[in-house]
Amino acid sequence: MRSDSARLPEVSLSRHGDPAEAGVVCASLPLAPLREAWQADGRLAAGLPSWLCADEMGLLAQFPVQKRQLEWLAGRLAAKQALSHYRNWLDAAVPHPAGMAIQRQPDGRPFVDERTYLSISHNRCQAVAAVANCPVGIDVESFDALQAGSIADLLAEQEVVAVAAGQGCDRSQARTLIWCLKEALFKACGQRAFVPFARAIQILDWPQGKVPLWRVDSRAAGQAWTEEAAPACDHWQVETAWTETSAQVLVYRQGRPGADPIKRAEE
Ligand SMILES: CC(C)(COP(=O)(O)OP(=O)(O)OC[C@H]1O[C@@H](n2cnc3c(N)ncnc32)[C@H](O)[C@@H]1OP(=O)(O)O)[C@@H](O)C(=O)NCCC(=O)NCCS
Repeated sequence: MRSDSARLPEVSLSRHGDPAEAGVVCASLPLAPLREAWQADGRLAAGLPSWLCADEMGLLAQFPVQKRQLEWLAGRLAAKQALSHYRNWLDAAVPHPAGMAIQRQPDGRPFVDERTYLSISHNRCQAVAAVANCPVGIDVESFDALQAGSIADLLAEQEVVAVAAGQGCDRSQARTLIWCLKEALFKACGQRAFVPFARAIQILDWPQGKVPLWRVDSRAAGQAWTEEAAPACDHWQVETAWTETSAQVLVYRQGRPGADPIKRAEE
């Protein structure tokens, strides 16, 4: 099998939703064994042309810092395996991994084709990718990666208190979860700058095992939002995953817009 010759670490795969409506395939690739194979085993590098197209091989060679190079590679490898499983799920033809080119848009977004949505995230332990037939965003963060001071402006105290109470977690975990949600939504909405976006999304409640309730403050966004750009929370499915050291949030847009949940909550 191709993955044997390239000696890739095993990915974990999961399916969410329904491909007839909103369906997502996620893949998670651990970084430590990839790093080890990358540094110690020439077969990994030799096998990469079976996973990456010529443009991707060129991009890989351009990263000046090895940590970034490895994270980018892990994201691409996770994404290609998610893409293969997603196409299998749809009963569509599954091209060779090197034939599924993932382009990098000028703003950094990954792009496969007009009908496929893709999101990628990495922290120092793993790379994750989500492939879907609907807008999708994924983010993974370590609890200790977020310095409270640097992000205080983007996470309101009320949000941290509400999420810690709803999830039954500590403040550091709550901050990480909120950050992941805002980054995942930002990636899925795919426009504007992150800082005004993160300020505009205000989380009101996030009970354990349920979808969070948030409101969108257009004034905080600094400009008028179109309906498509403002992620109203009743359009989105949100799924979380935890490890001892990190949190992951997957968001994907589904169904027809319903009543505004903020108005419902205020009634
Ligand atoms: C998009 C963004 C949110 C990514 O978050 P991150 O935590 O830096 O990194 P992640 O590992 O989670 O995600 C990186 C991936 O997101 C994707 N990405 C990059 N820009 C993107 C965008 N505009 N929209 C969607 N996805 C994007 C890429 O695939 C990237 O991985 P790759 O370059 O290896 O392909 C980030 O680029 C950003 O804008 N961050 C703002 C941070 C900030 O403003 N901090 C202020 C602190 S006070």
